[in-house]
Amino acid sequence: MGRGSGGLKHRPPVDRAQLERIRADTPVTRRDYLRILVTVSAGLAAGAAGVAVGLFRRHGSGTAAPAKVADRLEPGQAVAFRYPGEDDRALAIRLPDGRLVGWSAVCTHLACAVLWREEDNQLECPCHDGVFDPVTGEVVAGPPPRPLPRVELREDARGIWAVGSDW
Ligand code: FES
Repeated sequence: MGRGSGGLKHRPPVDRAQLERIRADTPVTRRDYLRILVTVSAGLAAGAAGVAVGLFRRHGSGTAAPAKVADRLEPGQAVAFRYPGEDDRALAIRLPDGRLVGWSAVCTHLACAVLWREEDNQLECPCHDGVFDPVTGEVVAGPPPRPLPRVELREDARGIWAVGSDW
């Protein structure tokens, strides 16, 4: 027997109501898909715009009220403090040459505490041997990907004050 003559069985015509039910059961219609696409795109655009204008900051605002960190520091001495927020660890250091510098004490690698090593004249992170330049905050050695953010310090007759930060 030929394939074409008796092999095809009669298929009942698909009725319109059945087609509508099948379409209604589709989990995501083309219109839904476009709506989701537009919503997600708008959300991503809004998030990117927020980052661009600085709405989302890591900690603090960078405009906290001045905070006293020490009465005085002798060359080679450092003091740890929190600024601009209670979760923001920072260091003020009187370098051996007399300059006063302030840095975030949160390592830019994995956020371990950065320590002042007076004997080596450098800032060190003991977690993975990260080393920062105490003058510039730049990475000198190890895995940290970025320099330390700066804390702006002022000194007057009443002491040393944190007055601003890079973050
Ligand atoms: S957390 Fe500081 S070097 Fe890894």
